[in-house]
Amino acid sequence: MAKPPLSMKPTGWFQVAWSDEIGIGDVHEMKYFDQEMVAWRAESGRLTVMNAYCEHLGAHLGYGGKVVGEVLQCPFHGWQWNHLGRNVCIPYQDRPNRGRRISTYPVVERNDSVYVWHDAERREPFFDAPDVFAGFDDGSSAADYHPQQRLYRQRLELHPQYVLENGVDFAHFKYVHDTPIVPVFTRHEFNGPVSFVDFTITFEGDDGKKIEDVNSGVRAINGGLGVAVTKSWGMVDNRTISAITPVDESTSDVRFMVYIGRTPSKDRGRAELKAREFAREVIRQFEQDIHIWAHQRYSDPPALATAEYAGFTAIRKWAKQFYPDGIGGSAAEAYAAAQKG
Ligand code: FES
Ligand SMILES: [Fe+2]
Repeated sequence: MAKPPLSMKPTGWFQVAWSDEIGIGDVHEMKYFDQEMVAWRAESGRLTVMNAYCEHLGAHLGYGGKVVGEVLQCPFHGWQWNHLGRNVCIPYQDRPNRGRRISTYPVVERNDSVYVWHDAERREPFFDAPDVFAGFDDGSSAADYHPQQRLYRQRLELHPQYVLENGVDFAHFKYVHDTPIVPVFTRHEFNGPVSFVDFTITFEGDDGKKIEDVNSGVRAINGGLGVAVTKSWGMVDNRTISAITPVDESTSDVRFMVYIGRTPSKDRGRAELKAREFAREVIRQFEQDIHIWAHQRYSDPPALATAEYAGFTAIRKWAKQFYPDGIGGSAAEAYAAAQKG
């Protein structure tokens, strides 16, 4: 097993479900960040994500908990909890327990996904989850794209940072994805918690292809370590969302979503089919990465080629802001050791 030396409790927005998995009145149980959680949708449509255990005697609300109007009712003794995790009713007493509260998570629904804000210190969100359309400021919306195609792989031994490092890793494209050329990065901006990476790439042509002749590329926005969105240009119009969420100390769930742009077409059925085919191809390429990540051992410090140095140094330095101790990996251990002795 290759347990990452990086914290599996990073700060940021992380996907825990798709919106359509949790209908009105549904209670969805799940485990992330080593916590049992429930997501439930009230009659009004409001979605709440909170820790799973009832503060009364500890029943798991995901096993028999029931949505009653705007509250979640425990299956054990009928206590009711609201969207703030507050107890609002004890059915056999005239007043609720105002002191106890179930921990809730800030939640947003965006691009058909449910994102929760995780922070070990319970600070409020300090950046926004990226939007695969609005984030690129080009007036696009889901209506311009075919329905989202998805990949969902559970409990893989990988860390969210591996996936982001892919974005500065120019050399892997040729070997993992069989691109004819090595992409060229035109933007690496790792300042705030949201970072930006642009690169020129093509999947067409052979070894004789020159980078100067390539008129296509990808723009990526990384909203922390958990959610990244991309937009392509100069090739089949596609957008992607990759979302990696730690489950426990060694595994993460991976969700990947692809949108293919609609084009004017007389034959709608055929256009739909072609879009699905292309989406499958994009997903296949992402699976090629997963195959590497799921068996990788985090290398720190890594042996880098000269041209790799700037990108990897920048992204690893940027990533540290999301770890509870502010330092990831061997640096964290070195720090702890220095404190001790
Ligand atoms: S354990 Fe939830 S009401 Fe008793
Ligand atoms: Fe890749």
